[in-house]
Amino acid sequence: DDPPLLSGRRVVVSAGPTYEDIDPVRYLGNRSSGKMGFALAAAAHAMGAEVVLVAGPVQLPTPAGVTRVDVRSAAQMRAAVLEAVGEGADLYVGAAAVADYAPTQGADHKLKKSSPTLTLELARTPDILAEVAQRAPRPRLVVGFAAETHDLAAYARGKLYAKQVDLIAANLVGGGDSAFEGEHNALHVFWPEGETEIARAPKPVVARRLLALLAERLGAAP
Ligand code: C5P
Repeated sequence: DDPPLLSGRRVVVSAGPTYEDIDPVRYLGNRSSGKMGFALAAAAHAMGAEVVLVAGPVQLPTPAGVTRVDVRSAAQMRAAVLEAVGEGADLYVGAAAVADYAPTQGADHKLKKSSPTLTLELARTPDILAEVAQRAPRPRLVVGFAAETHDLAAYARGKLYAKQVDLIAANLVGGGDSAFEGEHNALHVFWPEGETEIARAPKPVVARRLLALLAERLGAAP
């Protein structure tokens, strides 16, 4: 059994991809499976926390004892996360692979293949993690994930300061050992004064180790 390191804590986790609609039948998505975020939500509950899981479109069962809010787009995820965090959260973990760009015109009619080329105009989506980190009141700990193919440490350290988050959990995606779709993950965790590694293990094990680290940083239970 897990020690109740997060007893009395309110935790909000985002997970999965977002889908940005192009027309009623097409969308822009990504390969995030949602497994890391779901594992984090399950582990936080097992460690005694009250957990809200904001999930993009994934086919995964809801972890026992967790309140799940299903969303599709980055805009919907932003609204659901801000609502959950606004009710008072100690910890926000942004494990979702939020789309960086979305079509500016969600066509309500199916696009026709009437011309040889088609240009989609995309606009930046809101940065949910940065918004949660920079609003007041904010959760005591705001944690982001970084999925990069190279220059992991430099990128993660830059992101800590740029987004004003407290901790970045970086994993490598791409190549043969992808964290994105698999059952295993390894993390390199960065915070302003330090860093540590969580060795490659099944995602539920990695989730428990990361949350133990976060519980320690949150300090003694209230
Ligand atoms: O900047 P980048 O997308 O690499 O940062 C990844 C982190 O930021 C993840 O924690 C992800 O959930 C979060 N993010 C977000 N909203 C976005 C883009 C990323 O919350 N629009």
